[in-house]
Amino acid sequence: MTAKKNKAYDLVIVGSGIAGLSFALKVAQAGFRVAIFTKKDKAESNTNYAQGGIAAVTSAGDDLDKHVKDTLEAGDGLCDPQVVHEILRDGPERIKDLIELGVAFSSLQDGTPSLGKEGGHSERRVLHVKDVTGKAIEDALLANIAKQGVELFEHFFAIDLITASKARKLGVKVNGEDDRVLGLYLYDANKEKVVTVSAPAILMATGGAGQTYLYTTNPSIATGDGLAMASRSGLPVMNLEFMQFHPTTFHSLDGDRFLITEAVRGEGAKLLDAKGRSFLKKYHPMADLAPRDVVARAIDREMKRSGSPFVRLDTPSMKVDFPKRFPNVYENCVKRGVDPLERAIPVVPAAHYTCGGIPTKLDCSTNLDGLYACGEVACTGLHGANRLASNSLLEAVVMAHRGAEAVCSFLSKRKDKRIHLPDWVDGDVPASDERVVLSHNLDELKRTMWDYVGIVRSTRRLERAQSRIKNLVREINEYYWNARVDLPLLEVRNLVCVAELIVRSALRRKESRGLHYTLDYPDLADTPEDTLVRPVRR
Ligand code: FAD
Ligand code: SIN
Repeated sequence: MTAKKNKAYDLVIVGSGIAGLSFALKVAQAGFRVAIFTKKDKAESNTNYAQGGIAAVTSAGDDLDKHVKDTLEAGDGLCDPQVVHEILRDGPERIKDLIELGVAFSSLQDGTPSLGKEGGHSERRVLHVKDVTGKAIEDALLANIAKQGVELFEHFFAIDLITASKARKLGVKVNGEDDRVLGLYLYDANKEKVVTVSAPAILMATGGAGQTYLYTTNPSIATGDGLAMASRSGLPVMNLEFMQFHPTTFHSLDGDRFLITEAVRGEGAKLLDAKGRSFLKKYHPMADLAPRDVVARAIDREMKRSGSPFVRLDTPSMKVDFPKRFPNVYENCVKRGVDPLERAIPVVPAAHYTCGGIPTKLDCSTNLDGLYACGEVACTGLHGANRLASNSLLEAVVMAHRGAEAVCSFLSKRKDKRIHLPDWVDGDVPASDERVVLSHNLDELKRTMWDYVGIVRSTRRLERAQSRIKNLVREINEYYWNARVDLPLLEVRNLVCVAELIVRSALRRKESRGLHYTLDYPDLADTPEDTLVRPVRR
């Protein structure tokens, strides 16, 4: 599909993961014109790789209070209890929606859902489709949006928001004095040019920022674009120091980090140190199923202590039919030379989930009129300092439902005339001229983040990271303003921007809480506070 220049929609969505697609469906069902723009193929998203599943209370032995308690405990004092209660309460209804849309969750022989267990959960409550839950959800949502008439444009990269304040600075007459969102600049990768799209409402559903780190479970799309765009538009971002490291990814020498779902530990696999001893009991009463921050730190400690570049996940001793329950993990381990039925899997932690994001209310609205955010890019207050496993797909689908209702009400009251938005002005120098510099900058950024802003931090390392990233930001920005943009340049620009925000957030937190552990402040501060960092300068 090709996007027409200056074409108007009621709602423009950036991103085609669970958040963007769920939101689009509901707003289109209400009769509004919805377009989704996505930077790669439509299914390419973190959602598509989700393995473990989606957490919700669906069994007789479980209840909302237990799910709330587990979420609050994992979040280490920083979750918003009201938000936690409301999102988790709505979960079971949204699971029904997914089933109606065609997601066939795995079930037991008696027809009841097969429920997985993951770190920090006191009960089995993770609905899953074997170990390919994300793909099953993504496929079902994509099939349904096509039926609802949502227009979906692949290979369109959202560059920046066009706000009223920005348009006024460029000499456009915009009624009123308030700031609000008017549209977007998008890079059409097929035609290699920038187009302008206007809309009274825009949803950021761009996912996380795992690609700021050298080692990550996230696919290449996860470059924090939505965070960078929001910050450049003058919005603060929240709690970005809480980057979640997943404890178990397959250790390969080429740096590829294939996720080994926590549900494997939920089915009984134990982590073993270099001498083959189970070690998690030393660190937490829940041992191998402790919250993720605890397990990732424990692995980091054991690896440093032994000098081994990985620990092992003891799959051969498991009672479960591994290839049947975990076909995706099984196939990928075999492909990488380890048969989990015969050998323990070598595993290491890797950057996995961005707990912070654009602060939103419980209807996905942000501080900028007309701008909404949903999914991993948003920060609702559900995850606090450490997300409970499998709560993110749930958050996205619950929040999309609530946000869609709010957007429909916003759109039905809106009577703005269409404004002709300023055209994009490109630089003269093809970005590809400096490819080698950009790829060097990217390598330096990812290594800096991994080495200095990782699982265990210190003020000195964070300050080093800050000074290096400052240089990278300066170099890339200087270059950006003269360049004819392309995808690698746009992504690196966003990655350095988000890395700067993460480091600034981490330096602000003078305590160790949840995923943020610093040697200089090893204890919890008395009063938990969110970290809001000021927008970056354009
Ligand atoms: P995504 O699904 O990441 O979608 C983002 C979309 O935005 C993509 O389509 C992307 O191409 C597009 N995009 C980004 N930037 C731009 C731009 N500038 N212009 C245009 N388009 C853009 N969570 C769970 O709850 N349970 C699990 O079992 C689970 N397993 C996981 C396993 C893996 C390997 C990973 C990586 C994550 C897992 N997570 C899991 C986390 C969960 O998958 C994500 O948090 C969730 O899918 C995020 O959904 P989203 O819609 O917000 O973003
Ligand atoms: C996993 O399957 O271990 C990932 C679950 C999650 O990130 O929520």
